[in-house]
Amino acid sequence: MLKGEKVTLRALEREDLPRLWAFNNDLAVELAGGGDPPMPQSLARLQAEFDKKAAEGGRDGADFAIEADGTLIGICALFSFDTLAQACELGIAIGDQAYWGRGYGREAVHLLLDYAFRLRNMRRVYLRVHGRNQRAIHAYTACGFVTEGRLRDHVWSDGAYDDLLLMGVLRDEWPPA
Ligand SMILES: CC(C)(COP(=O)(O)OP(=O)(O)OC[C@H]1O[C@@H](n2cnc3c(N)ncnc32)[C@H](O)[C@@H]1OP(=O)(O)O)[C@@H](O)C(=O)NCCC(=O)NCCS
Repeated sequence: MLKGEKVTLRALEREDLPRLWAFNNDLAVELAGGGDPPMPQSLARLQAEFDKKAAEGGRDGADFAIEADGTLIGICALFSFDTLAQACELGIAIGDQAYWGRGYGREAVHLLLDYAFRLRNMRRVYLRVHGRNQRAIHAYTACGFVTEGRLRDHVWSDGAYDDLLLMGVLRDEWPPA
């Protein structure tokens, strides 16, 4: 649906689930992604969740599969839409570690921001990221996000406390020079 040079953002399909399941059970991916502490997930449960949502019909909201080289490499989404303030949150996880640090995430974020600002008329997109996740912070900064706040020692991750950074980008600041 949203095409870049390296990645395409499209709907998640049922045949993507075995790869997504592998990503969801990869400790390094889960720790980098932040949010809930890592927990095992069975393929059956993931499929059941998918089937339940699919049975509801309608659209997939702003949830996207990230495809590169003809295969699923991760997922990304916009969520918590505030239509009054025209703001939403962004989340991304490239689950295939072979694709880390090669510009794929940056391009996916770029496509998502274009979607948010141009197609969804958002004014502001924000995200939360752990302070130790320098790869993510570099990628977000390259996409125009600036650090707006730092909650010190706010999260527990991989045996230590970490800061939680709030980053945001306004439509007027995008695309970055
Ligand atoms: C975060 C993520 C989306 C970034 O995408 P990516 O394709 O890996 O990142 P990019 O290649 O576009 O950019 C990475 C930047 O960090 C730098 N970098 C790469 N590895 C790094 C590391 N270990 N430490 C510090 N910087 C690093 C790269 O040099 C690049 O910066 P530069 O262009 O200024 O040189 C992706 O790595 C990912 O999904 N990781 C796992 C889950 C996660 O962290 N999600 C984000 C939760 S907020």
